Parts: sequence; C-alpha cells; structure tokens
Amino acid sequence: MWWILLFIVLIYLVLYFVVRPLASKGLAPKMTMKTPSENPKFDNSFRFGASTAAWQIEDIKEKSNWSLFEEKGRCPPHEKACDGIKMFDSDLKMMKDMGLKFYRFSVSWTAINPEKGKFDLFYLENYINICKKLKEAGIEPMLTLCHFEHPAWVEKEGGVLAPDFKRYLCEITATVVDACKEYCTYYITINEPAVFANNAYKDGIFPPGEKSFVKFLQACDVFMECHASMYKIIHEKIPNAMVSIAKHMIPFYPMHEWSVLETVLAAVFNNFNTAILDSFDTGVIKYSFLGFTIHSHEVDGLKNSIDFIGINHYYCTWISFNPLDWGGSVFTQPPMSQNPRRFSLSDFGWSLAPESLSVCARWVNERWNARKLPIIITEHGIADKSDKNRQWFLPHSLSHLRDAIDDGINVTGYCHWSLLDNYEWAEGYKMRFGLIEVDFETQERKLRDSAIIYKNIISDSNK
Ligand code: BGC
Repeated sequence: MWWILLFIVLIYLVLYFVVRPLASKGLAPKMTMKTPSENPKFDNSFRFGASTAAWQIEDIKEKSNWSLFEEKGRCPPHEKACDGIKMFDSDLKMMKDMGLKFYRFSVSWTAINPEKGKFDLFYLENYINICKKLKEAGIEPMLTLCHFEHPAWVEKEGGVLAPDFKRYLCEITATVVDACKEYCTYYITINEPAVFANNAYKDGIFPPGEKSFVKFLQACDVFMECHASMYKIIHEKIPNAMVSIAKHMIPFYPMHEWSVLETVLAAVFNNFNTAILDSFDTGVIKYSFLGFTIHSHEVDGLKNSIDFIGINHYYCTWISFNPLDWGGSVFTQPPMSQNPRRFSLSDFGWSLAPESLSVCARWVNERWNARKLPIIITEHGIADKSDKNRQWFLPHSLSHLRDAIDDGINVTGYCHWSLLDNYEWAEGYKMRFGLIEVDFETQERKLRDSAIIYKNIISDSNK
C-alpha cells in the first residue's frame, strides 16, 4: 500500500517542481498591488484620446453580419446607435473640450461596400471629412479598417472563412486608404483578431454563432493573412504610415499558485495572448502548449508587420476550481474567475484591477518589443452606468501606467473606450462604456464626471 502512496507523492512532486514552473513561464508578470499615486501627470507629448467603432455608433441602413444575427434573434436590435455621423461635429466639440489628441474610430465596411463590387462614395466622404476635421482640431485620427463588422453579402459567402474574404478586405482597405491618406497616417488593420475569431467561431456569441475550435483556428489564420496584405497595401500608399492591430490582452493567472492544474490551464488560455503577438516576431501563427504545437501556420509578410503595438485591455482572468471564486460573466465562464472576493466588478462582471493595464504594457514591452516600437493603448475602459467606479478606475489605471513609463516602458498614447455610450454587440445598449453619456432616444450627450477627471489629467499634463 505504502508504495502506491509514494508513487502518488512522486508524481505530484514532478508536476509541482517541473510542470508547474514550465507552465507559469510564459504568463504575465504579477501585479504588485501598489497603491497608485493620485493625480498622474504625463509629459505633454503623451497623447490622450478615445475610441469608437462604426457599427457601435453609426446609424447604418445597409445590412451587415450583425443584421443577419439580429434577424435570427441572436443579438438586440441595432437601430440608430448614437447617430455618430450626423452628430460628429458636436462630438468633436466635446473631444476638443476634453483636450483629446487621438481619436480612434472605424470605417463601416458595410456602409461603404453594401453590395459586392459596389462602393458608396458618398458614405466614404463622411470618413474623409472626419479625418480632415480631426486634423484641423489637432486630434490625430487613427482609423480601424475591420472592427467585428462586414457586409451581409460577405457573411452570406462564408464571412471570415469565405474563400475571397481576404481579397474583399484588401479591396476595401485600398479604397479607404486612398480616400483618407491625405489626413490619416495611423491605421489599425483588424481589431482584436483572436477575440473576433473566438466569439464568432468558437463561443458562438458573435455572428455567425458557430462553435468549432477548428474554425476558430482557421479564422485566426485568415485574419493574420489579411493583416500582412493590408499592412503592405497601406505602406505602398503611405510610406511613413503607422500601422498595427489592436491586440486584446488578458493576463491569465492561477488563483492558487500551488495548484498545478490551475497553472497548466492558465498556460493553455495564455495562447490567446501569445499566438498573435509571437506571430509578428516569427511570421508564424502558432498555438502550442508546454513545447507541443497544436496548430501552426506560416504567413508571408507577417514578420515585423507592425509599426507600433496597439493594446486593448479590460480585465485579468484567474483560473480557479473553487466555485466561491466564480461569478456569471460573459467571456469568463468557470473555471475562469474574475476574482470577485478580491476585486470589485464592472457592470459587465469584469474585475477592476487598475494595475493590470500597466502590467500588460510592461509584459508586452519586455516580451514582444525587441524593436523598441511605441506602444499605444488603443482601448481600455469600464462598463459603468453609474459612473462611480470609472471615477477612480480611470485615474488609478493611468497612474500605474505613468509608473510604467517612468520605468522606461515606451507608451506614447492612451485611448479610452469609449468616447460614447454605444451598441455593445451581443449586449446591445445595456453596457455603458462612454466618457460621454448618450440618451439613445434624443441623442443628447452629456460629459460624465469621470470625463471631467480625465480632462483635468490631460490639462495638468499639458502645463
Ligand atoms: C471591442 C469593443 C467593445 C469593447 C467592450 C473590445 O473588445 O473592441 O468593440 O465594445 O471591447 O466590450
């Protein structure tokens, strides 16, 4: 009997001393839980901004992949959103009032390419005007070419997995860049490719609502193929363009450091962060675990195809097998946890750990920035209708970010998600991310108190 026990103990020791350290090697640095200093002050070269995306704010009549999803009753009605095009001039005034220096927004592929081979040049004109007006106001436009949305006709041909998806996306890229190049040099090719692939093809919460791991991997490959070609097209038209993707970062941690299983699972989920960023260093998109490759795909022109590193970040995720740590939240089903016993949660159920943004910046800089590229936070924010949490979460997050910059991390800009309350995809209008509160009936706008706090941080930094 004793030898069975000894055998079990030996196995555990091997797992603990060999497998666990190996699995934790690639994980994000830990948080220090340092108290943030009040009133962070940045250099006046630092660019503060805000982000939006077309389908989330515009009143678009043409049908997209989301309209088809809505017809199946899989997402709430889109309606007019924030009527973003008509309201742009007054939104611009509010951006100027806050002192913003970056505005990240996207073109609606659906609105400008509503039918196969047909481009709506009038709608495209809106984006040229937006870029022009932003420039005149001293705000740098950053244009996203593909933000979770494409026309219904593309979706009907198979969406991201359609045989010609890349060709279509390259066509729209060329058209948009030709139109906007006089006023816009910052481009995001694809917003959060791994999130889009995951939500659309693995978790089924974005259109087309599929649940296939194989299709998820295929979609990631397609996106990186698209990115490499789009990068080339943009640079052919604007040699000094600044191009990136917006990479969603989620630090995964084991809830209990002694737990081999939690650490191993954290390492598996960590592929979400590493696969895409590694691919810019290697030219290969690869999903692997403990040295075993599950999937690998080489993409021509992918290596080094970014000019800055765009980071989107909202929350960390812990792995826990203790049900007391779980809490219902989209995207973070058990054994994933938002650590509710330690952190307060946003309206979306995401952990509010203000240090995590700086952790991501430090991690990205250390592991994926051998070329010393600028890092720009392309999205970061909180769903908070009451605005109570945003009022401390935003300055505390910026304060930690400031510390990272003091430690030599080359973060040159920060765009808050979002400028406006908007259509939050599968959640509809429930989640309020805006610095600006929107009344969706009247389209009235109002600066939230947190926006005033943001404005004060910006003006103090400009002194
Ligand atoms: C997306 C946004 C979204 C935000 C909040 C990001 O992943 O890029 O479109 O609104 O998260 O959920």
